[in-house]
Amino acid sequence: METAMSDEPLDKAVELVETPRETQEQERRGIGFALKGVEVSYSGVQALKNISFEISSGERVGIIGNNGAGKSTLCDVISGLIKPNVGKVTYAQADATRKSAIWRAQKGMRRVFQHPVYFEDLSIVENVMIGSPPSRGDGIVSSLLFPRLFYKEQRETAIRIMEYCNIAENDNHSGVNLPYATKKRIELARALMGNPKILVLDEPAAAMDEEERAQYCQVVIDYVETFSTTLIVVEHDVEVIKTLCKRAIALDAGEIIADGEVIPVLRNDKVIDLYLGKRV
Ligand SMILES: Nc1ncnc2c1ncn2[C@@H]1O[C@H](COP(=O)(O)OP(=O)(O)OP(=O)(O)O)[C@@H](O)[C@H]1O
Ligand SMILES: [Mg+2]
Repeated sequence: METAMSDEPLDKAVELVETPRETQEQERRGIGFALKGVEVSYSGVQALKNISFEISSGERVGIIGNNGAGKSTLCDVISGLIKPNVGKVTYAQADATRKSAIWRAQKGMRRVFQHPVYFEDLSIVENVMIGSPPSRGDGIVSSLLFPRLFYKEQRETAIRIMEYCNIAENDNHSGVNLPYATKKRIELARALMGNPKILVLDEPAAAMDEEERAQYCQVVIDYVETFSTTLIVVEHDVEVIKTLCKRAIALDAGEIIADGEVIPVLRNDKVIDLYLGKRV
């Protein structure tokens, strides 16, 4: 299997970007993210309590915490699938509190779900192609409704991104019995089809073996460093957090208990007592 470090796939991934890199940098400078006093309740269960933080453009932030701490709910608020009961969300220099996930996607946000979304009626390459930006005129809905109208160019792009993401399976494979880890890589490839300015990954390395995890992390690092993409990663594997992120936010029972550089957060007494159980 080709490694993510080989220059060729990365060069090809760079070629995918139609806008010159300088222009992209200018666009990205304005893309930050902030939550202020955010609270979310699910019929009595308070999943997030008074959450406030700012993420600057190009930052790489890990979200850690126990099962049920509120990490996926936080991803839902960030990506617009859940509107907070209280508080404000700012994205791309706009009040995004009531804006939809589609609005965020149009502004360059892409999300990889904890449980990978895979459309079994589509081939692997089509599953990647549906991540194409809607602005190209052939977005998610039309791609699903009219798969035969996909442009050749998009298919070629998807195949290159699959290669970049180490997806070796035949692109015409139906994907019904694909391993979970492969579905995770397909979700990443779909997200990268959108040339994300901000990438939100919810437990991307779950169910991967050590080699797959290292390869996945290498692809993400290559990508975000090349394109200065803002990265938000939820992950239980602290090695993944250490590899991918410079900053970590620890949640416990819906509250932030630590926020700062990764190593100090992992050595924080509360984080050790309430989450890690021991020094790592
Ligand atoms: N749709 C829902 N309806 C009711 N309660 C929910 C719903 N989704 C999440 N919760 C509750 O909200 C809290 C936070 O859940 P969330 O899924 O955000 O945690 P998490 O940190 O992602 O956990 P995990 O590590 O297990 O994925 C939990 O108490 C959970 O049971
Ligand atoms: Mg979760």
